[in-house]
Amino acid sequence: DDTNIAATPPMGWNSWNAFSCDVTEEDIRTAADQLVETGLRDAGYEYLVVDDCWMADEVDDEGRLQPHPDDFPSGIESLTEYVHERGLKFGIYSSAGTRTCQGLPASLGRERLHARQFADWGVDYLKYDNCGDHESNDAIARYSAMGNALADVDRDIVYSICEWGQNEPWRWGRNAGGHLWRATHDIVAKWTTDEQEFGLGIVDIIDQMDERGMAPCHGPGGWNDPDMLQIGNGPDSGQSQLEDVDVDRALTPAEERTHFSFWCLFGAPLMAGNDLTAMDDWTRELLTNEDAIAINQDPLGIQGTRDGVLGETEVWSKRLAGEECAVILFNRGDSTTDIQTTVETIDMPVDAATYTVRDVWNDEIRETDGRLHATVDSHDVAMFRVIPE
Ligand code: DGJ
Repeated sequence: DDTNIAATPPMGWNSWNAFSCDVTEEDIRTAADQLVETGLRDAGYEYLVVDDCWMADEVDDEGRLQPHPDDFPSGIESLTEYVHERGLKFGIYSSAGTRTCQGLPASLGRERLHARQFADWGVDYLKYDNCGDHESNDAIARYSAMGNALADVDRDIVYSICEWGQNEPWRWGRNAGGHLWRATHDIVAKWTTDEQEFGLGIVDIIDQMDERGMAPCHGPGGWNDPDMLQIGNGPDSGQSQLEDVDVDRALTPAEERTHFSFWCLFGAPLMAGNDLTAMDDWTRELLTNEDAIAINQDPLGIQGTRDGVLGETEVWSKRLAGEECAVILFNRGDSTTDIQTTVETIDMPVDAATYTVRDVWNDEIRETDGRLHATVDSHDVAMFRVIPE
């Protein structure tokens, strides 16, 4: 197997946030076409992943998974071919238990059979969930069984461990053969959630990514995953497994920009999750911003961290290759605020007399002696690449 697999955070599109369990092969074909037409593929979104609900209610006589007869009538192999013909890679889903989260057959105890099956179909990526009966096997054993099975097939398959961060998978995900592992619970298209609600909001995940001590375990070949993007998902898009999403609670444009900026600063896998047939210019421009994606895909593969807090404002940074540094000035408060810091606060490895500052979201370049500042709206960010001269 290729040791360069997932050398930078995987990028792609996954069906779950927009389609949940209502996904069909037609949706996947359309998404493949849309990834090409909208320019997302050329911006780097390469893996097209079908999530839960592609499979039939029953396995075949040998225990193999079968495609759902009504929703995936042409089978997975022809779908994979369609996706490959468009210059994309194809990803599929199963669970490290007896059943998926939607109650369909999964892979526990049949890891080798299913890994071979996926490889024969031409699958390039497996998202492996944590639902169903675990039959008393612990998470490391269950996830390693599939990791070993994938390593033994004659095909490079990115292995996405979806254990929801319960057993600190950043400590064992790499050894289990994983290339990315969910570090947090399910994301919903909200700024924040309270304990009674399902899932985590954007700002809840941002905090957990910093507070759980996982950053040192993140890097080329193995990535901490704060879950898929909710950008472009309105309250009526069927995201979040929620029946009634309150209009008030969908993300604002500022919150979407904050969401994307942090996923780039974290070096997170970037899996778009919106209905591509309904994508507006705002969403497309956010998702394809070249400066933001370059920060995400930086070859050092460092997870950005929080460097300073002042009231409701925060400074975050991520070391980049070539002694450069990415910075986020974040305003979590309710009113517009000036945020100021200097290069001494951030993870800037060298001391220079002047620095060039490239503003990611305003397409501006300026010089500074080391001071960094911006006026930042509520729930919004400024994001810079800082280059010592
Ligand atoms: C839980 C996962 O965390 C989600 O991303 C999604 O895959 C669902 N299960 C599917 O049932």
